[in-house]
Amino acid sequence: MVNSGGGRGTVEACLVLGIACLLALSGVQCDLLHPHRRLASEAVFDITKFEAVADGNTDNAIALIRAWKAACNSIGAAKLLIPRGQFVAGEVLFTGPCTANKPITIEIQGDLLAYDDPSAYTGGAWIMLEKVDGVVLKGGGTINGRGQQFWKYGKSKDGPPLPVSFVFQTVNNARMSNLNFVDSMGFHIKVTDSNNTDIRNINIRAPGKSPNTDGIHLSSAINVNITDSIIGTGDDCVSIGHGTYNILVARIICGPGHGLSVGSLGKRPTETSLKGLTIINCTLVGTTNGARIKTYHASPRIQATHIYFQDIVMEKVKNPIVIDQHYDSKRRPEQSSVKLSDIHFRNIRGSTISKIPVKLNCSSIFPCEGVELANINLIPFGPIGPLKSTCSSAKFFVKGKLNPPAPTACA
Ligand SMILES: *[C@@H]1O[C@H](CO)[C@@H](O)[C@H](O)[C@H]1NC(C)=O
Ligand SMILES: *[C@@H]1O[C@H](CO)[C@@H](O)[C@H](O)[C@H]1NC(C)=O
Ligand SMILES: *[C@@H]1O[C@H](CO)[C@@H](O)[C@H](O)[C@H]1NC(C)=O
Ligand SMILES: *[C@@H]1O[C@H](CO)[C@@H](O)[C@H](O)[C@H]1NC(C)=O
Repeated sequence: MVNSGGGRGTVEACLVLGIACLLALSGVQCDLLHPHRRLASEAVFDITKFEAVADGNTDNAIALIRAWKAACNSIGAAKLLIPRGQFVAGEVLFTGPCTANKPITIEIQGDLLAYDDPSAYTGGAWIMLEKVDGVVLKGGGTINGRGQQFWKYGKSKDGPPLPVSFVFQTVNNARMSNLNFVDSMGFHIKVTDSNNTDIRNINIRAPGKSPNTDGIHLSSAINVNITDSIIGTGDDCVSIGHGTYNILVARIICGPGHGLSVGSLGKRPTETSLKGLTIINCTLVGTTNGARIKTYHASPRIQATHIYFQDIVMEKVKNPIVIDQHYDSKRRPEQSSVKLSDIHFRNIRGSTISKIPVKLNCSSIFPCEGVELANINLIPFGPIGPLKSTCSSAKFFVKGKLNPPAPTACA
């Protein structure tokens, strides 16, 4: 069950000890009297030692949960290992808090395949990590939601809940890198009620026609970085929901899909405000939207402020720059009470397939304020004629050159 590592573990342990001593010098308490705990190498909890079988068929959910519990409840450094092979699993809940050293590691080398029967999922998640402080997820493996069975339900409200492939719920100090996600049932990754999350070098792939397969969705999450990833799905590549603070999205290649979106905000009465989002150095290819903010009609009174869309390249994008505060306006006639302010669209260039690539359509009861349009250069892809910008209920200002020109008026 527990493999002891070789010399490398000892080197790492020495480094840890060294850092511990530095911390001691700087006044932080140091466990120098019990160095054996620090010197013990990482314990590996391999799911195949917990009766998981890589036959591409058996439901290994119980084995995964048992291996996690052993890792989480161990003493010292611990790693849950999903080795090479095809492991099918139904609903999996990895719950903390853990006694193992922080951070605990989850290494996915093989393929995790969702159990192929929609009735096996009772909640909103396939794999959920919950109440854990300090976790590293890595390994180069693939998390395959096999969502085809769910996509036929489309946006219908009567279908089963659409399980998210991987949910971070009340998880602090998480790092996820070098993993592949394909064909989720619902979203691919969701981070919620969490602080300090770093997601990088992730590859997410689902068909452009698969509904609700957002790449990464955030809500009630603070201090999140999402970087250096390639995302192509049937919905938003990254969507930033309510209750988010200090978010960086950088160096993402997005497409196909619905683009990089703020929202939808204001659907439910309990939603809270969004503050501090930078989306920078991204490329969108063939998406329906580029830089988008969308809010519902008849929303609670919240704010979304301090938002930067900067240095973004668009290729054949339908709506490169769009604020739409009129979501679901037919069923919810009352205007949106989401106040948008301090919104920046800077250095956005490339090609579009729409005659109106810049649309600012804000709430008439809470107009947008402080919208910056700076250095925008969008050219038509194909013979679609001259381009223009439109605007409604927004106070905006212009810097540098704008192509198409800024809206002439904004009632
Ligand atoms: C969020 O996490 C950071 C880093 O661990 C920590 O410094 C900060 O206090 C946390 N914030 C909250 C509100 O918990
Ligand atoms: C995000 O990146 C910035 C630097 O760009 C860094 O200061 C910050 O600590 C990072 N936050 C997380 C959650 O990794
Ligand atoms: C964005 O790209 C510019 C130019 O390459 C670079 O200077 C800057 O550090 C990048 N920022 C991020 C957060 O990727
Ligand atoms: C704003 O959206 C409303 C509702 O969809 C639509 O009727 C109106 O024409 C739009 N205005 C602009 C300027 O795009």
